[in-house]
Amino acid sequence: MERTLILAKPDAVQRGLVGNIINRFERKGLKLIGIKMLSVDDEMLDEHYSHLTDKPFYDDIKNFMKSSPVVAMAWEGYECTASVRVIVGATNPREADAGTIRGDFAIGQGRNLIHASDSAENGEKEVSRFFSDEELLSYDKSEYIHVYEHKERSGDGRDS
Ligand code: TYD
Repeated sequence: MERTLILAKPDAVQRGLVGNIINRFERKGLKLIGIKMLSVDDEMLDEHYSHLTDKPFYDDIKNFMKSSPVVAMAWEGYECTASVRVIVGATNPREADAGTIRGDFAIGQGRNLIHASDSAENGEKEVSRFFSDEELLSYDKSEYIHVYEHKERSGDGRDS
C-alpha cells in the first residue's frame, strides 16, 4: 500500500472546502491515516517546493501558503498516488477536467486549493516531512474486502 500527502491549502480552508476535499478521497475508498491543521513556515515550504524556489512566482506561493493554516492529510491505498492526482486535476484549474477538485472548485492557478504528491517516492517523503511516526495510525478498514481484490489488498498475487 502506498502513502501519499494531501494539503488542503489556505484557499480551501478559507472557502470552507476542506470537508468536501476529504469526502472525495473517502468515497474513493482510500484510508485516512493522519490528519492535522498547521501553519507552514519558510523552512518547510523551501523543502516542500524545492523544485520551484528559482521560479519568479515562488514568493507569491510562499506568502499565500503562509496566509492561513493548511490541513495536512496522509492517505493510504493501493497505487493511491496516481489515483489521487486524477481526482485533484491539472495544476492550472482552468485546464482541469470537470469532476476533479480543481476543475470543479478553482479557477486561479495560484489558488488551486490542494497539494498532492506527484509520485509514490515523493508521497513517502512528503508524508514523513509533515507527520511523525506517532501521528500516523495503523488500523484495519473493514470495507477493504469490498474496495479491493484480494491480490491488491494483500500483495500476494492471489485472486480471491
Ligand atoms: P507544481 O508542483 O508544479 O504543481 P502541482 O501542485 O500540481 O503538483 O506547482 C506547485 C504550486 O505552485 C501549484 O499548485 C500552484 C503554483 N504554481 C503557480 O502559481 N504558477 C505556476 O506557473 C505553476 C507551475 C505553479
